[in-house]
Amino acid sequence: MVNVIGLGYIGLPTALMLSSNGVKIIGTDCNKELVDTLNAGKTTFFEKGLDELFQKALLSGIEFTTEYQKTDVYIVSVPTPYDKFSKKVDASYVISAMQDVIRVAPNGSTIVIESTISPGTINKRIRPVLKDLGRTDINLVHAPERIIPGNMVYELINNNRTIGADDKVVGNRIKNLYAKFCKGEIVVTDIKTAEMTKVVENTFRAVNIAFANELAKICRHDDMNVYEIIRICNMHPRVNILQPGPGVGGHCISVDPWFLVGDYPSLTRVIGESMKTNDSMPEFVLNRIFEIMEEREMKDITRVGLYGLTYKENVDDIRESPTLQLLECQKRHLGIGLKVYDPFITKSVADNQYYNLDEFLDSIDLVVIMVKHDEIIENMGKLRNKVVLDCQNICSFTDVYHI
Ligand SMILES: NC(=O)c1ccc[n+]([C@@H]2O[C@H](COP(=O)([O-])OP(=O)(O)OC[C@H]3O[C@@H](n4cnc5c(N)ncnc54)[C@H](O)[C@@H]3O)[C@@H](O)[C@H]2O)c1
Repeated sequence: MVNVIGLGYIGLPTALMLSSNGVKIIGTDCNKELVDTLNAGKTTFFEKGLDELFQKALLSGIEFTTEYQKTDVYIVSVPTPYDKFSKKVDASYVISAMQDVIRVAPNGSTIVIESTISPGTINKRIRPVLKDLGRTDINLVHAPERIIPGNMVYELINNNRTIGADDKVVGNRIKNLYAKFCKGEIVVTDIKTAEMTKVVENTFRAVNIAFANELAKICRHDDMNVYEIIRICNMHPRVNILQPGPGVGGHCISVDPWFLVGDYPSLTRVIGESMKTNDSMPEFVLNRIFEIMEEREMKDITRVGLYGLTYKENVDDIRESPTLQLLECQKRHLGIGLKVYDPFITKSVADNQYYNLDEFLDSIDLVVIMVKHDEIIENMGKLRNKVVLDCQNICSFTDVYHI
């Protein structure tokens, strides 16, 4: 039996996938409301294929509770934000979950940490907790997760994985557990290497996105078409530039690279500047809105609307959302009034929020495409009589504005 601790965006699909593949699973989360929802037969967020997986897991006998279980394997998938001042990983959720687990964990059991952590966190922060509680009998494993919201179920099955363990026997035992559903290659390595690889993967993405964003700024400054330039450059056999955008959100690319900046401040100049470049994009879009309004002699800010609140297309996750950052930036400049709409967000998360596309479009003259949800691609014709600032390069109108 496996006790999965933390049933959020990562823990829940992992628990369901293991359960659907014949592993006895009890899922534990400290959020009682979340556990009650799952026990009422409902999933807690939207994800393609998740409801079907949930039904399969229910048939396989998965259980959800707020209690930690006595068992031989735990998978911990709790949040790891970064400290906004020091930029270091905030491991407090992992440490607190470990303390709770250790109270019930039998001798010789294995705790797998799936949460993303900076290199050395297990040695510096987790082992001392075990030592203090006299539990050096417990095996620690790090199994970072790579899945992307929007394609989680497919990627859980098909991605390659990394397992970090102190000894190969324990590592291979956990590898066999993941191999129950994972068709990708599973590499077993040491713990610090596994910690570092996960953070490096997200840092690689962040730095490359920052490069595209910087190109967008250069091209804007000197009136060049960044998309055409990237398209031509990418015809070179060894060049593969990503697309610029209105900012980076979510729980991974906008967070994890900061762990390296926090731990190695004098060695991470490229990474630090890249993160600042990506973080500057929402304000850059706000400036573009200002420029376009000047050019078009538009005076009424309440006739401007942001399409999309989530951090990426076709998901309902708004963590570190560029749109929310843009609104925050506007507020800090003592501005108000931008309208906002997202088909996936039905709860109120911003002022002037709309819940219906047509009503939203009727109330504005300038629409800013922040997120390329399928809905806006399918309804592009409705933007014909609008001024469009397309931050995702999805609109083919001739007079569209870009970042
Ligand atoms: N979301 C992603 O796309 C993604 C992708 C790869 C890796 N990760 C990493 O996975 C980890 C989890 O992220 P997430 O997006 O699933 O977070 P989340 O906030 O969606 O879920 C975490 C869950 O843990 C629960 N929790 C917190 N402390 C607990 C405790 N002591 N005991 C029991 N439950 C507890 C919370 O109530 C919450 O439901 C993070 O380290 C993140 O960086 C996330």
